[in-house]
Amino acid sequence: MQKPIISLINCPGYVDLPALFPKERRYISIIDSSIAEMYRSYFPHPQIVIDVSEECKSIKEVERLATLLLEMEADRETVIVAVGGGVITDLVGFVASTYMRGLPFIFVPTTLLAMVDASIGGKNGVNLGVYKNIIGVFRQPECTVVCPQFLQTLPQKEYRQGLAEMVKSFIIADRERYFDFMNLPEKERQEYKTIAPFITAAASIKRAIVESDPVEKGERKLLNLGHTFAHAIELVENISHGEAVGIGITLAAKLSVRLSLLDQLECNTIISGLEKIGLRTGSPVKMDQVTDGFKKDKKRSGDVIHFVLIKKIGEAVVVPLQIDKLKELLYDLS
Ligand SMILES: NC(=O)c1ccc[n+]([C@@H]2O[C@H](COP(=O)([O-])OP(=O)(O)OC[C@H]3O[C@@H](n4cnc5c(N)ncnc54)[C@H](O)[C@@H]3O)[C@@H](O)[C@H]2O)c1
Repeated sequence: MQKPIISLINCPGYVDLPALFPKERRYISIIDSSIAEMYRSYFPHPQIVIDVSEECKSIKEVERLATLLLEMEADRETVIVAVGGGVITDLVGFVASTYMRGLPFIFVPTTLLAMVDASIGGKNGVNLGVYKNIIGVFRQPECTVVCPQFLQTLPQKEYRQGLAEMVKSFIIADRERYFDFMNLPEKERQEYKTIAPFITAAASIKRAIVESDPVEKGERKLLNLGHTFAHAIELVENISHGEAVGIGITLAAKLSVRLSLLDQLECNTIISGLEKIGLRTGSPVKMDQVTDGFKKDKKRSGDVIHFVLIKKIGEAVVVPLQIDKLKELLYDLS
């Protein structure tokens, strides 16, 4: 049997994390400083604690961390444990993938976004100035340890970022989970024990898609649902990525209706679902600015964008569309 490229260990309740690290191996943990006080005791080995912001996803920080690893005498047998949100998994995954041509690493995501998205798929990288994730590699962690208990301390704003990606996965591939999640009472949707199985389901959807397309040649494009719009909106408006994804999914649903792929009732269900979980659905940016933004999309091929559209909740398709044609189709949407 083919070895899975990612193994997920799901820990729905409090677990003995240290027991996951057998004593015969040497580990160094790299931990987000904002959670270090609360959680560092789970990682009983040498630690590097770093202040996290999008700016620390940089070559300068890669250099600094590699220097620290040298000082700590990390060698090819050392396992790096990345503990934090998507910034940590992207940055530390890149450092571990390139230091001495690559060390084994384990991800312990602590934000919802990192649990369902950033820690899965093997994309590790850093930014170059304003260009996001431009320097990077594809390399899989040895495993991703998903412990929803970390979410108890996650601020609401950050929680919503992850919900946007989680619900996106259900719209792409799991109709039943979508409705099960949306039908939960609001309080339970915030409860880490209740949402643990939904996290596993969303992470598994990403894992399955990535396993079928490890270096983004085909099916993996489905994961971009809402993101082409979101990136174009983020170029103009200073809003969080999760908010932009909510608006992006809404616009993708409306475009799908316009192209007769999705029925209006189902589109309305998607929009009300996004609003129910606290996401924005109305675009603050005019459509001509959005379509101008498509030209800067790094995933466009010439004048064509591979757009992810929705056939029904639980099924999405990738459709190549000319940017000029998109201008006509979108001009009056909001
Ligand atoms: N590689 C991929 O496939 C992929 C996919 C999606 C996003 N990303 C990247 O992920 C990054 C965003 O990730 P993110 O949203 O997790 O952001 P983040 O890592 O900045 O974390 C968000 C905030 O939450 C704090 N935090 C983390 N865990 C916490 C906890 N348990 N309790 C309290 N606070 C906690 C962090 O200190 C930070 O302030 C971006 O850089 C994006 O490019 C990568």
